[in-house]
Amino acid sequence: MLVFEPIYTDGLAQISYLVGDSKAAVAAVIDPRRDVDVYLDLAREKGLRIAYAIETHIHADFVSGAQALAERSGAEIIGGCSPDYAFKLRQAADGEVLELGQVSLEIIYSPGHTPEHISLLLRDGQQGDEPFALFTGDTLFNLDVGRPDLLGEDSTKQLAAQLYATLFTRYLPLGERVEIYPVTARARRAASRSATGGAPRLATSCCSTRRSTSGATRPNSSTGCSAACPSRRVTTRG
Ligand SMILES: [Fe+2]
Repeated sequence: MLVFEPIYTDGLAQISYLVGDSKAAVAAVIDPRRDVDVYLDLAREKGLRIAYAIETHIHADFVSGAQALAERSGAEIIGGCSPDYAFKLRQAADGEVLELGQVSLEIIYSPGHTPEHISLLLRDGQQGDEPFALFTGDTLFNLDVGRPDLLGEDSTKQLAAQLYATLFTRYLPLGERVEIYPVTARARRAASRSATGGAPRLATSCCSTRRSTSGATRPNSSTGCSAACPSRRVTTRG
């Protein structure tokens, strides 16, 4: 049976998600926060092994808990393609599917907010073949989209173009029934609505730019990056 638990961090206005299959006793955490006890406690309570700690992108507004979660649970860290990660992770390919029993998460490259951004398309084999939810990270919120200018002026135009392409060529073709589950503040109201009558769906189009108070980027790391990765075509800072 599908496990779907949004975890709110009020002080940071951040939302992470524990998703999995209770029958297979396996789960993934999407965009874990630094204090990972909440995921370990939830997993223990539900009898789940945490197989993946997934980063939708390099976060500028909170400290990732992916490394801490991996150390304490044995989870594999999964992210997009970038030389800028400050820790080791597996850079997943576009289209790769992470299996969690009958539940699966398909990686969708979704550059725009950041070059390495990925989204996760959720399917549950017990409910059919069609995807029904999309973890959009900081790409798409309820009636809003993520900022493409946080990495500086040099890359803003290119990221804005990529954001447009992500929204219109990757997200919209998924169909209007797919619910969206973002990671940060402006999404909180949207995600919380899911518990009481359905999250916003892709038919809710986006047209304005989200305001943010942080523009920090990440230090470099030595992680490799495939030549085919779209993020290589973008100049990044940090
Ligand atoms: Fe972000």
